[in-house]
Amino acid sequence: MAKVEDRLLDHNYDGILEYDNPLPGWWVWLFILTTIFSFIYMFYFHLAEVGELQAQEYISEIKAAEASGGTLAQRNEKLWAKVQYVVLEDDAALNQGKEIFVKNCVSCHGPDGGGGIGPNMTDDFYLHGKGIEATMKTVINGVPEKGMVSWKAILKPDEVQKVSSYVLSLHGKTATNPKAPQGVEIK
Ligand code: HEC
Repeated sequence: MAKVEDRLLDHNYDGILEYDNPLPGWWVWLFILTTIFSFIYMFYFHLAEVGELQAQEYISEIKAAEASGGTLAQRNEKLWAKVQYVVLEDDAALNQGKEIFVKNCVSCHGPDGGGGIGPNMTDDFYLHGKGIEATMKTVINGVPEKGMVSWKAILKPDEVQKVSSYVLSLHGKTATNPKAPQGVEIK
């Protein structure tokens, strides 16, 4: 950049003299560019109203979500409305069910379903009924007063179906450290 000579202004304030220093080139360009940008911005958002301001953008997104079948909570509600109380017996589903069980349930129901804080899953005794529908409903709604949460907000419908099918598959197996029977006997 060419060195610009400092130029002395021809004012004299009681002996105090003043230089007229030009502003640095990059600063002047920045100023010009931001000024041009502000005009484009004002035209785009406020005069032509092509761009959406935050509030309008929010309204548009809500409308788009409603058009695509509801908000996330509503879409989940639709999934749960279609939940099928059908036991799955294929290996792929049972293996996924086992993974879900190991991750979420063993802390209370034991690694092999023999029970602990929660009841034994391998015996003929049931607190909340036998079969896929009873099992899935217990998992969906939980037993909050006894310490088992509702899994509805944590697991998806197909995951509940898979883990419940896996729980049913534990029935009749021999647990290493089985908990004493709880509930009523259903053969
Ligand atoms: C924090 C501990 C805890 C966790 C974690 C837990 N449960 Fe339970 N579960 C319990 C308790 C306690 C009961 C017994 C409720 C009662 O006394 O009515 C129970 C009961 C059940 C029953 C009913 C059994 C019967 O005899 O009718 C099923 C089925 C069940 N749990 C499945 C699951 C599954 C599947 C998971 C994992 C997704 C899970 N539980 C996670 C504590 C837990």
